[in-house]
Amino acid sequence: MILKLNRDAKAPLYIQVKKGIEELIKRDLLKPDTKLPSTRELSGSLGVSRNTIIQAYEQLEVEGYVYSGVGRGTFVHEYGKIQHDSGYKNHSSKFSFKGYFSTVWARSYTSAFLSLEKLWEVNSNSDLISFESDNMDQTHFPAEDFKDSFLSAFRRYGTSLLGAGSSKGFPPLLDYLTSFMARRGIQVKAENILISSGIQQGLSIIGKLFIDPGDTVLLENLTYPGALSVFRSLQANCIGVPLDSDGIRLDVMENVLRRRKVKILYTIPTFQNPLGCTLPAERRQKLVELCRRYNIIIIEDDYAHELSFDGKQMLPLKSWDENGSILYMGSFSETLFPGIRLSWILAPGEIIRKLSVLKKSTDLYTNLILQAAVLEFLQRGFFDKQLKKKRNLLKERNNVVLNALARYFPAGTSRSNVTGGQFLWVELPGGVDAVDLLIKSRQKGVVFAPDRFFSVEEWEKSGFQIAYGGIDEEKIWDGIKILGNILAGLS
Ligand SMILES: Cc1ncc(COP(=O)(O)O)c(C=O)c1O
Repeated sequence: MILKLNRDAKAPLYIQVKKGIEELIKRDLLKPDTKLPSTRELSGSLGVSRNTIIQAYEQLEVEGYVYSGVGRGTFVHEYGKIQHDSGYKNHSSKFSFKGYFSTVWARSYTSAFLSLEKLWEVNSNSDLISFESDNMDQTHFPAEDFKDSFLSAFRRYGTSLLGAGSSKGFPPLLDYLTSFMARRGIQVKAENILISSGIQQGLSIIGKLFIDPGDTVLLENLTYPGALSVFRSLQANCIGVPLDSDGIRLDVMENVLRRRKVKILYTIPTFQNPLGCTLPAERRQKLVELCRRYNIIIIEDDYAHELSFDGKQMLPLKSWDENGSILYMGSFSETLFPGIRLSWILAPGEIIRKLSVLKKSTDLYTNLILQAAVLEFLQRGFFDKQLKKKRNLLKERNNVVLNALARYFPAGTSRSNVTGGQFLWVELPGGVDAVDLLIKSRQKGVVFAPDRFFSVEEWEKSGFQIAYGGIDEEKIWDGIKILGNILAGLS
């Protein structure tokens, strides 16, 4: 056995020997039950005292990496068993936490977010064909351009990026976002923008600012589980408003407003999650008017604004905002990559100031280096280049989905009409439950998110989301074929 020892290092030799062997065990280079060299042999080959080896072996044994049999020698333990049996033991608590959990947790637990989390865990650990929307195609992330932007941000701003930042955001990025928002038809000043670490954080601080237990929040039924989880955890009374093929139904919404006091509407007008539909301009205007009439705050989630297949963009609700009651959120998660965790909120100055206090109590400020790198990415034209590629890719994949559905799904299946984004919605005919389909398809290697992951309240039909952004064409075809074959047997 050869181990690198540094006689000039501060760490005693027995610790270095112990660490060297520990490393070999962890990397599986020393297999379970392998006999270690005798202390005499190893001391000879390493040129250290026998006592050094004895101490090292004793330490390894205390930590569970090896075991010894009297007169037989020292043997390697199974690494997984070590984790379970030794130092980690302290973390598998015998203390019963039952009864200690907060109501916030209890509310969050009932949300679909956790179920999605579970599905995501399964997906990331296997070769499944996953039509679940967290599954994004990493081969199309703009890695090289982002690397360039990162380095160039460092050259430009130097070590100032390593210091503390403002909870409102990196000032040059805030300035840039004013013109970026003008491209979306919204006039805004830098003081009306707050950078947040993803829309998820934006929702969380907006929720903390406005929601008391029992306040009523309207959401589209079905909706984005991340938002539902925030509002539920704050003990809001969440009411679902049904959707038609274009988006939220204003007639039903007005009925609700006549009967109850509503504080907030959370809505996703463009590429609605999970249906993928986009609210037409006329209905957007009516929605804004309706909320104004009933004094409701609108939280507009514009998470994927630029992802239309043909490059045409819809005006956000915020562009009709006359009294500042629309809190708008944009994000780079869908257009760049989700790992970036960078988004922004537009709101009146007094609200931004309050939100930045709440943000400070959450994570102080969003990573400065990242903000500067994204700014560089935008300024150097990489964003537009990436959009062009992404739109084409999504359009092609959407086409494959449509063709495969037409070919393999039973008559009576309906689907949402989408003009962009990463997914569409399928409604199943003949009383087939999407969860029954999921149980069967999982066994054949295909998974997706069914209706109940997104439901605010009972949803009378049955359907599921096909998120195709992260799957290549061949797999999309194979996956839909498998689902179609199972459906043929179910209906
Ligand atoms: C409607 C909607 N809003 C927000 C998000 C997440 O945004 P972020 O990554 O910025 O938290 C998603 C992600 O899928 C989404 O579908």
